Amino acid sequence: MHELKVEQLQKTYPGRERVAAVDRVDLEVEAGEMLVLLGPSGCGKTTLLRCVAGLEDAQAGRITLQNKVVFDAARRLNEPTHLRDIGMVFQNYSLWPHMSVQRNVEYPLRARGASRQDCEKAAARVLEIVQCAHLADRLPAMLSGGQQQRIALARALAPRPKIMLLDEPLSNLDALLRVELRTHLRAIHRTVGFTGIYVTHDQVEAFNLGTRVAVMKAGRIEQLGSAREVYERPATEYVARFLGIRNVISVQPENGWESDAGLLQGDLPGLARHRGPVRIYVRPTAIALLADGAASPKGDCMSLANGRVLDALYSGSEVDYVVDVNGVSFHASLKAYKATFNAGDRVRVAFSNADALVYAGEQLVPREETKAVQEGEVAAGVRPAAD
Ligand SMILES: Nc1ncnc2c1ncn2[C@@H]1O[C@H](COP(=O)(O)OP(=O)(O)OP(=O)(O)O)[C@@H](O)[C@H]1O
Ligand SMILES: [Mg+2]
Repeated sequence: MHELKVEQLQKTYPGRERVAAVDRVDLEVEAGEMLVLLGPSGCGKTTLLRCVAGLEDAQAGRITLQNKVVFDAARRLNEPTHLRDIGMVFQNYSLWPHMSVQRNVEYPLRARGASRQDCEKAAARVLEIVQCAHLADRLPAMLSGGQQQRIALARALAPRPKIMLLDEPLSNLDALLRVELRTHLRAIHRTVGFTGIYVTHDQVEAFNLGTRVAVMKAGRIEQLGSAREVYERPATEYVARFLGIRNVISVQPENGWESDAGLLQGDLPGLARHRGPVRIYVRPTAIALLADGAASPKGDCMSLANGRVLDALYSGSEVDYVVDVNGVSFHASLKAYKATFNAGDRVRVAFSNADALVYAGEQLVPREETKAVQEGEVAAGVRPAAD
């Protein structure tokens, strides 16, 4: 059953001529799931969330929470936020500075007229969940950022809302704390079992937390799927680029495998049928570098003519190589213990067919069209040196 349904939602801010911050969005969120909205700055994530919360008035569309229509532009229906049974957590924790942690967490229940006993019970329950029971008497100014964010989360959870809206709740925290709180949030989601929409532009956070991930582009949802689907099969070049897949080879299949980086050796069998240009995207971690003079790779893989290492960036566990092949830059991320090349070395760029994401007219070409046609021909190919 869906807990939240958004239909054809449209929100345009005044002054932004015909550019909608949210552009005819359809979305269904299932009970108990954590749907992550992922996308670059300005793509409409916060606006969509604020519309669901009733903090923005959209121009068109409908929002249904648990079979109850809370917004319908056509009927001029717009239920106020406090009647929507929603909990919210934002990037800036927005705790009341003059209230103790206990009072902050009790606040939404008091506002609804709950008894003192119920308030205390609920606060004790959620402070336990976020592991902050010992901080109940402190003022927000006496807390660290991570503690403040846990309290903000506790406050949102206290009235047991059906839906939690979380807008980049971890982005003000330092890297280590982010990872810790992310894990904690995942555990809380499992224990409490709320339905959530989580906004972020951090893909690791999205893949860690999201039951499903929606990638947004200019007010629209470009792809919606499981973390795995989005990661492994980015539906469009926009999604591929947003996920940081930086190696792009432009090919005209009917010209053999002539590309902008020179002749590609190997074959993506089904693609020979393709009319018109395709672009092949390969992740830096899926690129293998072969030493000059090394034997041509066997199996289902492709390789390019010799290139030259321009730079090698050491980042601890990996070395990120920049390689120039006929004027096209490639990025290869190799495990440091396998990274033996230096700037100036001649190397060949190779990748397994299985790691090639092929796009025609911006859209991902289905895998059946690109994989080996002959039974049993799915050989190991070149395994990326990063493995
Ligand atoms: N109050 C406002 N008035 C006018 N334009 C606005 C307003 N709020 C947002 N916008 C515009 O709407 C678009 C979507 O903004 P939104 O805040 O939803 O983006 P976002 O995806 O949350 O970005 P970020 O990752 O930076 O938070 C942007 O172009 C933004 O400039
Ligand atoms: Mg935002």
